[in-house]
Amino acid sequence: MWSFVRSSIIVGSVLAWVVAADLSFVATAHREGQEIDTSDLKFVPIPPQSHRKHDPASTPSKGSSRGKRNIVSFSGDWCGASQHTTSSDQFTNVFGYFTVPDLTLRPGAPAPQYAAVWVGIDGASCQSTLLQAGVTTVINSNGGQSASAWWEWFPEVAYSIDGLTVKPGDWISVNITASSLTAGTITINNVSRGYTLTISVTNAPTLCRVDAEWIVENFYNGDAQVNFARFSDVWFEETLATTVSGKQIGIDGAAMVYLKDSNGSITCTAAQYDNTDFVVSSQG
Ligand SMILES: *[C@@H]1O[C@H](CO)[C@@H](O)[C@H](O)[C@H]1NC(C)=O
Ligand SMILES: *[C@@H]1O[C@H](CO)[C@@H](O)[C@H](O)[C@H]1NC(C)=O
Ligand SMILES: *[C@@H]1O[C@H](CO)[C@@H](O)[C@H](O)[C@H]1NC(C)=O
Repeated sequence: MWSFVRSSIIVGSVLAWVVAADLSFVATAHREGQEIDTSDLKFVPIPPQSHRKHDPASTPSKGSSRGKRNIVSFSGDWCGASQHTTSSDQFTNVFGYFTVPDLTLRPGAPAPQYAAVWVGIDGASCQSTLLQAGVTTVINSNGGQSASAWWEWFPEVAYSIDGLTVKPGDWISVNITASSLTAGTITINNVSRGYTLTISVTNAPTLCRVDAEWIVENFYNGDAQVNFARFSDVWFEETLATTVSGKQIGIDGAAMVYLKDSNGSITCTAAQYDNTDFVVSSQG
């Protein structure tokens, strides 16, 4: 079914994946500091048509000024904070904690409905690539919900991480390090459980390392966006991006991105609390 060949090699507790001739990754897991077996984890490719790509037509554009430090910009699929650095002092790391959202059905739209939350590098001004990891929650017509963690180095395929249990209300931290333009490490930590999954990726698509984001997304499945659920406030905390020179940049001066749907309705807003904390809220 997939257009590439992949193989998984389990070496002790390290799960190594080689995807076609290029991108490859290894995964390790720890609980409370002790290395644990990862053989129950499966990285399931999400079909390319449901890549969590950023809608190029909806690049955050400078909107009205709000407060002293942040401008508001609008996107057709993203909501949250988008920070930028210069190519002479690129981002090497982006970090943040967030709550896995608890969803309710948005009236007037069919189920299932979704919201994805993630932390990432590039994708805003650098649209050719995006290194990101987070969680997607889905709600069905009977109100039942489930969540799954995933990572993606766009334009490569995204992977859903089967066997890593996440639930609405969990506190998750995502730590993404781009050690070079084509290699990096993603750490997903379930704070409530002391469970840490580390994925080391090599031979990946070339990053620009100029954007850092903390986002709630109404993502695309093929050409159409999924139905966007209403969600409980998503707090992003300890949001920090680090540059090559060691500068630590929070969200002061970042764009607060609001989601404006195709009918012009604002369905999601973001508000800064301080330099390292902000909240994303469902609207409408
Ligand atoms: C994450 O923590 C929650 C409790 O908040 C737990 O239900 C879930 O199983 C944990 N997931 C992992 C992978 O430890
Ligand atoms: C994120 O990961 C990097 C690389 O391993 C590490 O140096 C850094 O301390 C981590 N950040 C946090 C907040 O844990
Ligand atoms: C936009 O409005 C039309 C007509 O009311 C509706 O059918 C459609 O679902 C709306 N789109 C979104 C994204 O809400």
